[in-house]
Amino acid sequence: MDVIKLGLGGFGTVGSGLAKILDMNAKRIGKKLGKRIEIKSVLVRDLDKKRAFDLGPDVIYTDNPDEMINSDIDIFVELMGGLDTAKDLMLKAFAAGKHVVTANKHLLAEHGLELFEAAKENNVGLMFEASCAGGIPIVQTLKESLAGDEVKQMLGIMNGTANYILSEMTTKGMDFDSALADAQDLGYAEADPTFDIEGFDTAHKLCVLIRMAYGVDYPLSELPIQGITGVTAMDIEFAREFGYRVKLLAHVMDVNGQLEAGVHPALVPYTYLLARVGGNYNAVRLEGNAVGPIMLHGQGAGDLPTGSAVLADIMNLARQINGTCDAPDNTGFGNQPITKANILPPAESESKYYFRFTVQDRTGVMAAVTKSMSENGVSIAQAVQKGEAGAEGVPLVIISHETKAKSVATVVNELDAMDFTVEPCVTFRIL
Ligand SMILES: NC(=O)c1ccc[n+]([C@@H]2O[C@H](COP(=O)([O-])OP(=O)(O)OC[C@H]3O[C@@H](n4cnc5c(N)ncnc54)[C@H](OP(=O)(O)O)[C@@H]3O)[C@@H](O)[C@H]2O)c1
Repeated sequence: MDVIKLGLGGFGTVGSGLAKILDMNAKRIGKKLGKRIEIKSVLVRDLDKKRAFDLGPDVIYTDNPDEMINSDIDIFVELMGGLDTAKDLMLKAFAAGKHVVTANKHLLAEHGLELFEAAKENNVGLMFEASCAGGIPIVQTLKESLAGDEVKQMLGIMNGTANYILSEMTTKGMDFDSALADAQDLGYAEADPTFDIEGFDTAHKLCVLIRMAYGVDYPLSELPIQGITGVTAMDIEFAREFGYRVKLLAHVMDVNGQLEAGVHPALVPYTYLLARVGGNYNAVRLEGNAVGPIMLHGQGAGDLPTGSAVLADIMNLARQINGTCDAPDNTGFGNQPITKANILPPAESESKYYFRFTVQDRTGVMAAVTKSMSENGVSIAQAVQKGEAGAEGVPLVIISHETKAKSVATVVNELDAMDFTVEPCVTFRIL
């Protein structure tokens, strides 16, 4: 049986997950491919570290990146993370005529254009199913299954840590800090959780998926990104009273040929499937102009789920190695140059909004708030004020009808400057 030889860059959570599946499902893989997949060499930082899976005596461990790339491998599987070393190694792998599989969304979001171009020039594959939503097959769904559909809209819960924190706040009434500490204890959140809770990790995935859905580049630097650190237990409770759950959503929509996109905490009607995605799970809801709505739900991280996505890419490439297809279509758009997206200015985007003002409990406040809103074209759907008489500030919560982000910004600026305002206004979009 032919052998497909792998070089693993990194042997941590995902690398060991991949090794476990190769061992566990070896028979099935051989039956499907008519080829065997073998790990030949592994690049790590610390050669003395005990590993989660024993690869046996024949596998070469190295801490020298060049030794790995120049070894006799067919596919370089980049599971190291980070930007510079990973990118450098991928470019070297392409130049050496080796295919690459990666799970590195950060690298693809920042340097994807250059990497796709280099892979094309060298006629090799660059595959990245595991980079978005772990075990959920969203990349292939966009590339192959919905190849002929126009994607009208895509909504995703794509960070398990953020979703776990929001779910704990919702179901147990916890505050943000306690829920984050729990996530860290359970190993869901990194010691430095910034990328997860500030929305950057979700943003990286959204940039990758926009390329797959629309064949264009939405630069990370232009994407509006809001994390979940400003979501309080009080907002979660108000959202519940109005019939919503708070989720960190990635969204992109085609608005008359322009792309409206961003990452935001949003109030999702509790009857929607997305509102039911709990714990550290991920989900993506797609709407194609022919297929209609589709929902994918599953584990967005972990050794085996993510390893499963990496293996699918490896098997896809393995079918092509020595086969008839020697120019893999990495982007799903025939490897044509990826041009910049026609972006709807974020200020022009429209949504319903949740406003929480913290104001003095005195006459005239409600009138001033409604005046500012009506002068700026923000129409009120529901309002509620709660709090103890005599308290320094009471929450005034307003749910608006569809309105432009720029009108929301003007209202917030006007009202935050009023003498009755005790704390800055908090706003979230509503789905
Ligand atoms: N974990 C998940 O569930 C998940 C899900 C989706 C995508 N991803 C992505 O998959 C990639 C890997 O994640 P992971 O969780 O498996 O990471 P990890 O557990 O931290 O493992 C990283 C591995 O890469 C090695 N490494 C890192 N930098 C290196 C360098 N400069 N030179 C040599 N070796 C280096 C490390 O070596 P040592 O072991 O010697 O330190 C380690 O074996 C990342 O891009 C991540 O974003 C992860």
